[in-house]
Amino acid sequence: MTFVYVTARPDNVASHTVIRANGGRLVERFHEPAAYGGHESLRFRIDLKVEATLITLRSAQRDDFAFCRRVKHDTMHWIVEQLFGWDEKVQAERFASQWRLDETRIIAYAGDEVGWLQTKAAEDALFLAGIYLDTPFHGRGIGTQVMQIVIDEARRDGKAVTLGVVKINPARRLYERLGFRTTGEDEYKFYMRREADAMP
Ligand SMILES: CC(C)(COP(=O)(O)OP(=O)(O)OC[C@H]1O[C@@H](n2cnc3c(N)ncnc32)[C@H](O)[C@@H]1OP(=O)(O)O)[C@@H](O)C(=O)NCCC(=O)NCCS
Repeated sequence: MTFVYVTARPDNVASHTVIRANGGRLVERFHEPAAYGGHESLRFRIDLKVEATLITLRSAQRDDFAFCRRVKHDTMHWIVEQLFGWDEKVQAERFASQWRLDETRIIAYAGDEVGWLQTKAAEDALFLAGIYLDTPFHGRGIGTQVMQIVIDEARRDGKAVTLGVVKINPARRLYERLGFRTTGEDEYKFYMRREADAMP
C-alpha cells in the first residue's frame, strides 16, 4: 500500500485541516451512492512515505543490549555533548541502569533492524521511555508509524501516552503533530501527554 484515500463532507472544515496537515490532497468531488445518502463528498489522497505493513516490532532479547546502546549513543550524543559534555563511562553506566529487557522492543523495517523503543505501563497511561532509530533511517516516516502503533496500543486500553523530550530535540515537532501536548517541564525536558481521544 503506497497511498490511502480519505473522504470528508465539503463542509467538514476541521477534517480537511487534519487531512491536509497529514499530506492529503484533494483528488475529486463526488456523490456518495444513494444507499449512503447520495450526499456530496470530497476524496483526498494521502501518499504514504513508508509502507506501514513493512514495520514490525519484536520483544528484545538480552543480546540486543549492544545494538540498543549503540543506536541510542549514536543518535543522542550531540544532545548530551551540548548540554552536559559526553563522558563515555557515565553514559554507559546510565544506559545499563535504564535499559529494561521486558520493556524493550526492536523495530524492523522491511526486514532490517533499524531501531528500538522502550515502553512502560502506568496506571492511566503508557509511558514511552525512549524511541531511537538508526541515523540512516531518520526522516522517512518510520518514527511516525511506530508512534502510531504505540498510540493505538494505549488507546485499546483506554490509556494516554506520556513521554519526556529534551527541549532541544527536534523530535518534539513529531510528537506535537501526533497530538501530544506539553504538560510540564524542568530545566532540560518537556513532559508531554497524548490523551486516548486526542486529534489527530
Ligand atoms: C525521533 C525519531 C524516532 C523520529 O523518527 P523518524 O522516522 O525520523 O520521524 P518521521 O520521519 O516519522 O518524522 C519526522 C520528524 O521526526 C523528527 N526527527 C527527524 N530526524 C530527527 C533526528 N535526527 N533527531 C530527532 N528527531 C528527528 C522531527 O520531529 C521530524 O519532524 P520535522 O520534519 O518537522 O523536523 C528518530 O528521528 C530518531 O530516532 N531520532 C534520534 C533519537 C531521538 O531523538 N529519539 C527521541 C527521544 S525522545
